[in-house]
Amino acid sequence: MNNANQISFEALNDFSEMSFLLNPAVKIIDANKSVLTTLKISLSAVIHKEFISLLHPASILKVEHAIIKCLKERAKVELECKFRSGDGKDIDAQCYFSVCSSRNCKEDQVLVIAKDVTVDRQKELDRLRFYNVAHNTVNPLQITDLGGKMIYVNPAFVKMSGYKEEELLGHAPAVLASGMHTKKFWDEMWSTISAGNVWVGEVANRKKDGEIIYTQLLISPIMKEEGGLLGYFGIHRDLTEKKTLERQLVHTQKMESIGTLAAGVAHEVGNPLASISALVQIIQRSTEEVFIKDKLELVKKQITRISKIIRDLVDFSRPSNYELKLTDVNANVTESIEIVRVGKKAKDIEFISELDEDIVPLHLVADQLQQVFVNILINAVDAIVEMKASLKTDYRGKICVKTQRVNNNIQIIFYDNGPGVSAENSMKIFEPFFTTKKEGKGTGLGLWVSYGIVKSFQGDIKVGVSELGGAEFVIHFPIHPVY
Ligand SMILES: Nc1ncnc2c1ncn2[C@@H]1O[C@H](COP(=O)(O)OP(=O)(O)OP(=O)(O)O)[C@@H](O)[C@H]1O
Ligand SMILES: [Mg+2]
Repeated sequence: MNNANQISFEALNDFSEMSFLLNPAVKIIDANKSVLTTLKISLSAVIHKEFISLLHPASILKVEHAIIKCLKERAKVELECKFRSGDGKDIDAQCYFSVCSSRNCKEDQVLVIAKDVTVDRQKELDRLRFYNVAHNTVNPLQITDLGGKMIYVNPAFVKMSGYKEEELLGHAPAVLASGMHTKKFWDEMWSTISAGNVWVGEVANRKKDGEIIYTQLLISPIMKEEGGLLGYFGIHRDLTEKKTLERQLVHTQKMESIGTLAAGVAHEVGNPLASISALVQIIQRSTEEVFIKDKLELVKKQITRISKIIRDLVDFSRPSNYELKLTDVNANVTESIEIVRVGKKAKDIEFISELDEDIVPLHLVADQLQQVFVNILINAVDAIVEMKASLKTDYRGKICVKTQRVNNNIQIIFYDNGPGVSAENSMKIFEPFFTTKKEGKGTGLGLWVSYGIVKSFQGDIKVGVSELGGAEFVIHFPIHPVY
């Protein structure tokens, strides 16, 4: 290499960084071996060439500025730029520019040291890509250190848990423990992952607000390049929907089997009951004794009660063999409200209906539909009356009914400002004989029968919390049911 220069570039041949010596016209006076191996070019292709001819076009301007600054201010300048190698590849380099002057040479020269950082940049880019994938995926994701403390959680994890990020980092994922898994379950998980293996399992976690969420959790050990564990990576897949569907299926099957049982009981009890009822009437007519007449009257009352239960059982289990007719749901709602409104208990209650006039008529059995609506409205009246009795304030009961079309369904929503239904009761409310009413006041069959009727028209009924703080019953009927 050029010995006339102030520093011997031979001395720089052992360095892995590329070194260039430039004259003030930014032409290359000398270069070390690393320039030739990194840029895959010969010395003759470098010497006396413009330095910028070795650069990627996007880097030319900023390098020119750097050199001007370096020469003008005699300052050291550091920047990152891209070279283009002889075989057309881009080389990322961290460059340092400094001025050197010598006694032999009048003009200032520029020493450029360029460190190849292509691999580092590629790694950073890969890391950034992975980080973005992890950060933006809809799957909740957590990274824990070897001690099992969370060192990273993605936004989906934060959302799932209901905790803030700072409430999670530094803590073990056990903050989400639902207590629904045995110690053995977690011991097995730990022994699998600490041996460097992947563990997959279904877990139930508890959100900050206490709600349970079901996920499939995959935990994978993070290994160091040179071997050995660095931490653990856990990714969740939400199973709540699957669990809800499973629960609904079990519920539907349970309801079906109760229906079959009810049909049998109704048949077996109904016939003897009809005989007893007939006999009671005969005896009543054939006796003059007041005591016996009185007692028979009581027997009749009890028979009426049993008959109502049997009628309800039959209503639930009877296959829908009535004729389906195009039914105006709005008219049906209005009639049901009129029926319930005239009741003694309903006289102080305000009924509000908000009916979408454009909804299409549905193929239903109008009487059965009315039975469902009346059941729900009477329940709301009962709930409001009971609440009023316990409150003794100027509380005024309100029952609202709304109809609307939602996609391919007609939705009928009943909501009130009564006491509402607790989360625990809402799981059981459609089961037969579930009632919170005093003995003799309710049999707990009303909603069960309603459920049976709605399902027989391929609809659905759900209970929730009303915007007025009471109960809300939402019924859906498909506009085009497939029978
Ligand atoms: N609007 C409502 N507000 C509060 N609780 C309600 C409401 N509707 C129903 N419930 C609850 O659901 C229970 C079950 O209702 P369901 O109609 O099945 O039976 P019931 O009204 O008790 O008896 P019946 O067989 O006479 O209808 C009620 O006892 C009550 O606890
Ligand atoms: Mg009822």
